[in-house]
Amino acid sequence: MRRTGKTSVLENLELRLKPNAKLVPVIVNCFGIAAKSRLAKVLVDGAIDSYVRKTGDKAYLKRLAKAISEAAKSAAERVSEVKFAEFSLSLRDKNTEEDVLIENALKYVESLAEEKDVFFVIMLDEFQDVIRWGDDTLKRIRTVVQSQKRVCYVLAGSATTVMRNLVYDRRSPFYRQLVEIPIKKLDKVVVSAFLESRLAAAKIRMTGPVLGMIVDLSGGYPDYVQRLGLELYLSVGEGGSLTEEGVGRAYEDMVLGLDGEFDSYFSTFTPLEREILVALATGKIQPSEVAREVRKPIFNISKTLTTLMNYGVIERPMKGQYRIADAVFADWLNRRFKPMAEI
Ligand SMILES: Nc1ncnc2c1ncn2[C@@H]1O[C@H](COP(=O)(O)OP(=O)(O)OP(=O)(O)O)[C@@H](O)[C@H]1O
Ligand SMILES: [Mg+2]
Repeated sequence: MRRTGKTSVLENLELRLKPNAKLVPVIVNCFGIAAKSRLAKVLVDGAIDSYVRKTGDKAYLKRLAKAISEAAKSAAERVSEVKFAEFSLSLRDKNTEEDVLIENALKYVESLAEEKDVFFVIMLDEFQDVIRWGDDTLKRIRTVVQSQKRVCYVLAGSATTVMRNLVYDRRSPFYRQLVEIPIKKLDKVVVSAFLESRLAAAKIRMTGPVLGMIVDLSGGYPDYVQRLGLELYLSVGEGGSLTEEGVGRAYEDMVLGLDGEFDSYFSTFTPLEREILVALATGKIQPSEVAREVRKPIFNISKTLTTLMNYGVIERPMKGQYRIADAVFADWLNRRFKPMAEI
């Protein structure tokens, strides 16, 4: 799901791998990368950058520069340098297929790992944007990846169905080759403990049921916990004290601040999905009520409800009842589309 802390998990993993001298983690953000050649470039750049930062082997950069400046394989002695020179040449050649560029980028990383006796952990964040390129590209990636011995991959993304199909759909090129790690909303207990420790660190005092209120308002999303926490910290400062009223105001400011983001998120849904989301946000919870509200046959509604569930946008707390998973988004929708009077 979106905003649940996937990128943070990757960043934490990168930190935790730091003490291991042989492991080189590389985080690649695939969000909005339009061309496969761009991904290939980003992959190679990311691997080189992480390798040099990890090992301090600046001499390697000089060797690469030499390998391409003379544009001749003969100038490069080692395998990874030859591969890098070839990759740079193919990147400049308009006739090279874009899929081949990705393949070569992945192969280059393996050759670098072998040559330097290290292991790479390539973390592809926002992988749903790569899935969009289709099965042919994925198949070619799989073919390279499955024979590699020194590179492992983490694929993170937030379109839950697309990501799940990658693992479980028989037709998926990665069928049964991946391990799924769902990242869910945080438990109330976890949020509560986290808030207590952070507020204590800032010597901020609480009165009444303030803690529970923040926990409820953030709905288990780490993102909202942080946003609310920041608003609150800025409003009372170190050593200050929080009131229910103050938390209410901070929440209002947070929702206001999210307006643009929710606007563009909302516009990514189809018209029917948008209508259904509005119906759910304005208090219609059963499929029949939703169908009446959007004036469509219940059959169409059930189908779309299932799609939205698969995407993790809505949940079914009990049989026959639905709600929007992200309570803050639901609140924003409600404010925007709340009827003045029931018609
Ligand atoms: N376990 C956690 N405890 C506290 N804060 C967290 C935790 N995990 C993530 N955060 C914070 O929540 C916010 C959102 O996290 P992050 O960007 O990692 O989510 P994401 O799932 O990658 O989001 P997106 O779907 O937009 O890619 C960040 O401010 C991050 O610091
Ligand atoms: Mg992210």
